[in-house]
Amino acid sequence: MALSNTALDVSEIAWFIRMKYGVDVSRYRPTCFRRRVAHRMAMIGCGTVEEYLGYLTADGEEMEKLMDVITIHVTGFYRDRDVFQALEERYVPPMLSGSTIPRTGTIRAWSAGCSTGEEAYSIAIMLERAARASAPGTQIEVFGTDVSEDACRAARSGVYSDERIEGMPSRIRSEYFVRERDGWHARQSLRGLVKFRPHDLFSPAPFSRLDMIFCRNVLIHFEHYVRDAVMKGFHEALVPGGLLVLGKSEVLAGEAERLFDLMDPRCKIYGKRPSDGPSREDRR
Ligand SMILES: C[S@@+](CC[C@H](N)C(=O)[O-])C[C@H]1O[C@@H](n2cnc3c(N)ncnc32)[C@H](O)[C@@H]1O
Repeated sequence: MALSNTALDVSEIAWFIRMKYGVDVSRYRPTCFRRRVAHRMAMIGCGTVEEYLGYLTADGEEMEKLMDVITIHVTGFYRDRDVFQALEERYVPPMLSGSTIPRTGTIRAWSAGCSTGEEAYSIAIMLERAARASAPGTQIEVFGTDVSEDACRAARSGVYSDERIEGMPSRIRSEYFVRERDGWHARQSLRGLVKFRPHDLFSPAPFSRLDMIFCRNVLIHFEHYVRDAVMKGFHEALVPGGLLVLGKSEVLAGEAERLFDLMDPRCKIYGKRPSDGPSREDRR
């Protein structure tokens, strides 16, 4: 008889993943983790956790599949196009002119949980276009990180199929990508703006002096206390006036609410609040 998800004791699987991948899945929401293990067990017809664990140890491919469903890599170029539009039109120009962040001649952005790179490349394109229009000569640095090394490798290759690139305006596509036999290749001019590397958000932020952090559709899978810790790290890594962009269905809650001002509720764009400083409402 199949076990219900809530009755599944997945602690041994969590331990195995930690040993093998160094990923501490106890920090993901337990219901999500159990549901995903149950889904993989059902896919291969395993009736017990012990049997599934046997599978995992013997079959590297199943391990990859489980990690894929736990971390979910769904993404896309210009995902939530209105967010990119709002940034390009309303939030990036004042950054470039130095009215909301210190002017250094460089704009640094981090796509945290970048999956296969579409988000990081979209950010680089958006910043490059905005800089060209209002602050030519500005250096652009975009960092893309993900816990999955495979995702980072794919991102670094910068090659995307027709379906993956679908929806990108053709003018932008031909400016930043070139069609080759195996798909659309990001041009060197774009690749030079973006650096990818593996990073687990459960460990400290690897960058500082950032002007923007995008962490979209990643934190929803994390336990609350982990989200708070990640947000504190983001707050420290941002320059005064820096922006944090979350996924459309995500909100800051608890401790983290005190660190950022919600500037655009529809697009989930937050501004860094100075440490111990008043909120925007208080400052009015
Ligand atoms: C749904 S994708 C989001 C991609 C992109 N941010 C977007 O919104 O299109 C979630 C990504 O978060 C990554 N992820 C999950 N847990 C993570 C962790 N602990 N540290 C870093 N990245 C993680 C996954 O590997 C996956 O690629």
